Amino acid sequence: MPEVQTVTEQHLTDSPAYARRDSSLPRLRTYVGIVAGLGVASLWISPTWTAPSEIWLPAFVVLTMLSILLEFVIVPMPAGGSFSMATISHVATILLVPAPLAAASIALSVLVEQIVRSAPLLKATFNVAGMLLTASVASFAMGFYGTVWQVPSPTGSELTLLLPFALVAISYFGVNALLLSIVFAITDHRPIVSVLRDSARGTLLGELATTAIGAHFALIWVIEPLLVVVLAVPAIVIARSFDHIRRLNTETRGAVRSLAEIVDHRDATTFHHSERVAANAARLARVLELPEPEVELIEQAASVHDLGKIGVPDLVLLKPGPLTSVEMESMRRHTELGSEILTGIRLFRPGANIVRHHHERWDGGGYPDGLAGEAIPVGARVVAVVDAFDAMTSDRPYRHALSRTEALGRIADGAGSQWDPRIVGAFLAMMAEPGPLPAAASEKTAKAPQPARRRRPLPATAKTPQPARRRPSAIDPEGAEA
Ligand SMILES: [Fe+2]
Ligand SMILES: [Fe+2]
Repeated sequence: MPEVQTVTEQHLTDSPAYARRDSSLPRLRTYVGIVAGLGVASLWISPTWTAPSEIWLPAFVVLTMLSILLEFVIVPMPAGGSFSMATISHVATILLVPAPLAAASIALSVLVEQIVRSAPLLKATFNVAGMLLTASVASFAMGFYGTVWQVPSPTGSELTLLLPFALVAISYFGVNALLLSIVFAITDHRPIVSVLRDSARGTLLGELATTAIGAHFALIWVIEPLLVVVLAVPAIVIARSFDHIRRLNTETRGAVRSLAEIVDHRDATTFHHSERVAANAARLARVLELPEPEVELIEQAASVHDLGKIGVPDLVLLKPGPLTSVEMESMRRHTELGSEILTGIRLFRPGANIVRHHHERWDGGGYPDGLAGEAIPVGARVVAVVDAFDAMTSDRPYRHALSRTEALGRIADGAGSQWDPRIVGAFLAMMAEPGPLPAAASEKTAKAPQPARRRRPLPATAKTPQPARRRPSAIDPEGAEA
């Protein structure tokens, strides 16, 4: 996924059309041309408010320099994406400097940043012209209020200042997000609404914080310019807090995934199982055209779907022969245990339901809750198919791997009984196409050295499984039961 959440960072940071010269490039060029034309034309919009230049000129100079500086301060957001601290100076500039100089100041800072970063021409053109247009529209919106320079107001109703703050915030972020969302809609062939929703999800909090500081900057400047330096404190705290939360999130995700990997490593035959299931579940979810946030949720849940096996004893997990009913019950508990563990971790909680239900069957004969049909979460139905295929094409303690063709045949046979027929159809179509599908079978043949395993000591009981077979069933029991 490209950095779609960077919409509110107000720059085009990376787009697949730059990386791969695909069919969307001509349309992208046309679009950037239109934005450039509109951006330049917006400079001819007459100022919506006026004031003697000696009032706003010092603010214009200081804010232009500050914008250039802050363009290089990018803050990563906890939910992904990032935003630039220059939003603070941009908002203050639109409030304090009349059009078209406000737009010119902001566009200049972006131009400097693009030159320093050696941005490609198309990207730089879009970023500069886009900001020109965004700032012009926000300046125009300010015209509905007037100027903030009459603070303190002779009427004593400073609360009306909320109006220009709201006008600038809504128009600035609205236009900015829309312009960049169109880029991603073109390059990723996605609906604009979906791109906008994803970007808002990632950076709304940062936008609100920086806009509020920008508005306070303008307000304090009007009262006493020197006092604006105190705003550096909340700005730094906000930036550091977001960065800290982001790092905590990354570390938590890494720790939980490591646990899931350790579970996979307990059994030589499930080496990298969760990793493959996660990659293929995400691919299948995209084939099914599920919304991108749902795809990400499925991928994350799939990467830890067997985490609950941490509570399954080696005697059961690695048993080469048939399981007794008690052992089977213990094995089946991994779905509930996994979801219980994940429910306690805020970052993984949304996917806990997928983990709980990844062994349900379409006909209601699965576990732990015997859900049927669409009552099973769609993510769990996706993971179920991919998980079963990966299990079938891997060796298990009780049987050898099936061939790819044989496994696909069994998946097709189970459509409408074990698995959602629509998802099976999409999976079979996906498998017929060339693509980066890491096959368990190929891993099996190349797993002898297994260097990664050496880094993690295995439990003493994790020895090479014996070739004894568990009773075969019509549909691979691993796909149905573990
Ligand atoms: Fe699994
Ligand atoms: Fe499982």
